[in-house]
Amino acid sequence: MRNIRLPAHVAFIMDGNGRWAKKHFRPRGYGHKMGVQNMIKLCSHAFKLGVKIVTVYALSTENLSRPQEELDGIYDLFRSYFQKQKGKIQELGVRVNVMGDLTPLHEDVRGLLLETMRDTAVNAPNGLLNLCINYGARQEIIQAVNHAVAFGRFVDENSFKSLLYSAGMPDPDLIIRTGGEVRLSNFLLYQAAYTELYFSNKMWPEFSRRDLEKALVNYSQRDRRFGNVKKG
Ligand code: IPE
Ligand code: IPE
Ligand code: MG
Repeated sequence: MRNIRLPAHVAFIMDGNGRWAKKHFRPRGYGHKMGVQNMIKLCSHAFKLGVKIVTVYALSTENLSRPQEELDGIYDLFRSYFQKQKGKIQELGVRVNVMGDLTPLHEDVRGLLLETMRDTAVNAPNGLLNLCINYGARQEIIQAVNHAVAFGRFVDENSFKSLLYSAGMPDPDLIIRTGGEVRLSNFLLYQAAYTELYFSNKMWPEFSRRDLEKALVNYSQRDRRFGNVKKG
C-alpha cells in the first residue's frame, strides 16, 4: 500500500447487512450488529493507511420506512456504540460529525450523537469520520435551497456548498458500495459529481481490510480528468 495515490476522502455505502445475515441463517439485526463492528474495523484501517476523511452511510431517509422492529434494533446499536462502548469510537482518534436530519430520532439517541460530536471535537489527530444518519441527498439539497431562499441570497458553487452538511470538507474522492447493487441510493448526490465509484459484490459485514486495499489500489490507477484532457 506504500507509494500509491490515496484518496483523501473515502465514503462507504455499507449495504448488504440483511442479506449477509440471511445467508448465515440469522436475523437482519445480527447483520447490522456485525456491520457496525466491520465499520469500526474498516474505518480504523482506512485512517491507519492515511485516509483523512471517511464518510459512512449508516441510515438513509428512505430507510426510516423499514419495519419499526428493525429500526429499533439499529437505534439500540447507536445507543451501544455512543454510550456503553463509546471507547471503540474514541479509539479511532477522529472527530465524529453526523450528517442528516436528526429530528425524527428518539431524543436520547439524538442527544448521544450530539454529545459524541462535542466530545470528539478536540484531540482528533487521525482525521474526520462523517456518520450519515437519516441522511438523504435530496433532503440535504432542498434544505440548502430553503436556507438560501430564507437568507434572500443567490448562491454560487462555493456558497451553496457551505449550506450542505458537508460544509468545509473536500468532496469524496472515492465512494465504495458493497452489497452488489450499482446505484447511489440518494447518497451525496451533489458532492459526488466527480467522485470515483467502486462497487463490490461482497456484503458489508464480509468486506475485509484486504478488500478495502484492493479498492484503494484500483482507485490509484484511475485517471481523474475532471473534464480536461489526459495529461502527458
Ligand atoms: C445496509 O444493509 C444497512 C442499512 C441500510 C441500514 P441492508 O439492511 O440494506 O442490507 P440488505 O441490502 O437488505 O442486504
Ligand atoms: C443504502 O442501502 C443505504 C445505506 C447503506 C444506509 P439501501 O439498502 O437502503 O439501498 P437500496 O434500497 O437497495 O437502494
Ligand atoms: Mg440494502
